Amino acid sequence: MEKLVNIPAHVSIIMDGNGRWARERGLERTAGHIEGVESVRACTEAAVEAGVKYLSLYAFSEENWNRPQEEVDTLMSLMFKSMMEEMPNFSENGIRFMVLGNRERLSDGLNATIDSCMEKTSGNTALTLILFLSYSGKWDILQAASRFARDVLAHPDRADELLSMDADGFSRYLVTGGIPDPDLIVRTSGEQRLSNYLLWQGAYSELLFTDVLWPDFRKKEFFAALETYSKRDRRYGKVK
Ligand code: IPE
Ligand code: IPE
Ligand code: MG
Repeated sequence: MEKLVNIPAHVSIIMDGNGRWARERGLERTAGHIEGVESVRACTEAAVEAGVKYLSLYAFSEENWNRPQEEVDTLMSLMFKSMMEEMPNFSENGIRFMVLGNRERLSDGLNATIDSCMEKTSGNTALTLILFLSYSGKWDILQAASRFARDVLAHPDRADELLSMDADGFSRYLVTGGIPDPDLIVRTSGEQRLSNYLLWQGAYSELLFTDVLWPDFRKKEFFAALETYSKRDRRYGKVK
């Protein structure tokens, strides 16, 4: 990798195209999901090498619950298996692991594994790897609004102060509270949409759409994305 001047602190990826990768090879969709785990591994390594501090991955949307039960079950057991397998690598490589999303919809077993993985890696500082699971941007904004309303009701003496809160203040109620917004959002597989991902947090993210299917998105593709990002001019509405 060439030395890049402008390393994004937070890279986020909408991992799409597993099914098509499998279909192209005459395989079951599951084969694409399994191969996709290798891409997660490769991109995590690449992120550490490049000095990216946060890598977040859209692994399962709220809408994905509407897939056939068999595929949902396969995806959930794959998450479970991968977390168990990767746990030692996280600790070895200084990776803090987090899952964000609507945890109430996940099974008790999976939640227990997530909790243990998050707890064991909470002190690691090289890279924060975030898996968005059972997540959607609208759900996130709604749960934030609901928690905010509860705070206002619970603290009538501070109601005026709370109600005049700015966007930074409100963003602390999102599940990503305390995590910087993504500098770059990559979507693989040629689709050019956000599919209900990080609607608030992505307000000023650079977007990169690539035709590469997720199981084919490895280190080379990750570094190429960083290179593209380094050439972008972020203006935030100002004149330069
Ligand atoms: C991404 O691949 C994985 C998830 C959304 C869980 P897809 O399963 O969406 O693959 P395509 O889009 O059908 O090819
Ligand atoms: C988006 O992919 C969600 C994830 C990658 C987890 P989908 O394949 O579910 O998105 P749509 O249905 O094409 O918008
Ligand atoms: Mg898809």
